[in-house]
Amino acid sequence: MKQDPLTPYGNKPMVTPIVNAVNYEYESFEVLRQITDGEIDGYTYHRDDNPTVRAVEKSIAALEGAEDCIVCTSGMAACTLAYFTYLNAGDSIVIFHDVYGANYKVSLILERMGIEVIWLDASKPHKVKDAIKPNTAMIFMETPSNPLCKTVDIAEMAALAKSCGAMLVVDNTFATPFHQQPLSLGADLVIHSATKALGGHNDLMAGAIACNKEDYEKLWFTRQAIGTTLDAYSASLLERGLKTFEMRAERMSVNAMAMAEYLKPHSGISNLRYPGLKSDPGHEAASRQMRNGFGGVLAFDVGDNQEQAKQFIGNLNTIYHAVSLGATESLICIPYLTTMLYLPEELRTGFGVNLNTVRLSAGIENTDVLIKDIDQALATI
Ligand SMILES: Cc1ncc(COP(=O)(O)O)c(C=O)c1O
Repeated sequence: MKQDPLTPYGNKPMVTPIVNAVNYEYESFEVLRQITDGEIDGYTYHRDDNPTVRAVEKSIAALEGAEDCIVCTSGMAACTLAYFTYLNAGDSIVIFHDVYGANYKVSLILERMGIEVIWLDASKPHKVKDAIKPNTAMIFMETPSNPLCKTVDIAEMAALAKSCGAMLVVDNTFATPFHQQPLSLGADLVIHSATKALGGHNDLMAGAIACNKEDYEKLWFTRQAIGTTLDAYSASLLERGLKTFEMRAERMSVNAMAMAEYLKPHSGISNLRYPGLKSDPGHEAASRQMRNGFGGVLAFDVGDNQEQAKQFIGNLNTIYHAVSLGATESLICIPYLTTMLYLPEELRTGFGVNLNTVRLSAGIENTDVLIKDIDQALATI
């Protein structure tokens, strides 16, 4: 009888081991048959499945209240898995303008494959009704959205999607499951860039899709086919990040709220967007569908022009000038110059992103230190 090297005396390691194996020795042909027939869960080849990855999938599924979860190499890999699994030539997809910019690049590929892509302003969800057609297969949205933190009513979108037999896919990266569980509001799939708050330390890239068992099987098929399974080392880092995820998410939302309240009356900024503010157009819907606060990201325009926004960012000492979000450190960027760089001009500025708009992602630092940093940097413009 072979001894299990991971639990030689039956005592389990506190952390899921990093299983770096590409392939696994079959115990017998009967075991091979049972695995390939789906009678038992077993591992054969890394592109199919990996125990370290599987452990983290179970944890994310639990956070989202989902039956299962597929983890892959990045948030964009997760978005692409969803598109490739469910869209066929001749289908139509409705996407809100205000989603992460790289979705625009993928939409060009979808169009080449014969899929119609309809872009809509997230602040006018009623337009979805007019855009829906018999061949609409998917509505893809974020709330709060990237970068303008617009709120879209998930339950309303779920009802619309159901009325035309389309799937509702919600990218929950900004909100995180600590604040919002889209599946409970009627979404079919929940996407994450786990690179962000789930991982939380700027040290790994990963994507996730939380869903039911049936969709897990379909998404698994695509991931296995195209080879976007996460590596075991990143899965282990993600598992470690998840251990402190709720604490970090709570702290980030407290910091974001404090910064939003500080900024609101400040004469140096305008167009402040944070769903936690009562004055925010999305506050009512956000209060219905979010809990424990309103997330860690806010957006606002600095001064009158991009030079002033650059000057403000250049004068920050604690907050880092970098893309990404949901990390232990506060991060700030100008979306026009970074996350939205690939978009055509009319999509970049046509729905509210200005040349001087900044996106600020709160970290877990001391709140007073962050406010002081913003205060001194704004004083210089
Ligand atoms: C909301 C949102 N979705 C998806 C992505 C893509 O994630 P990744 O960079 O892990 O591919 C990002 C990246 O910033 C994002 O902000």
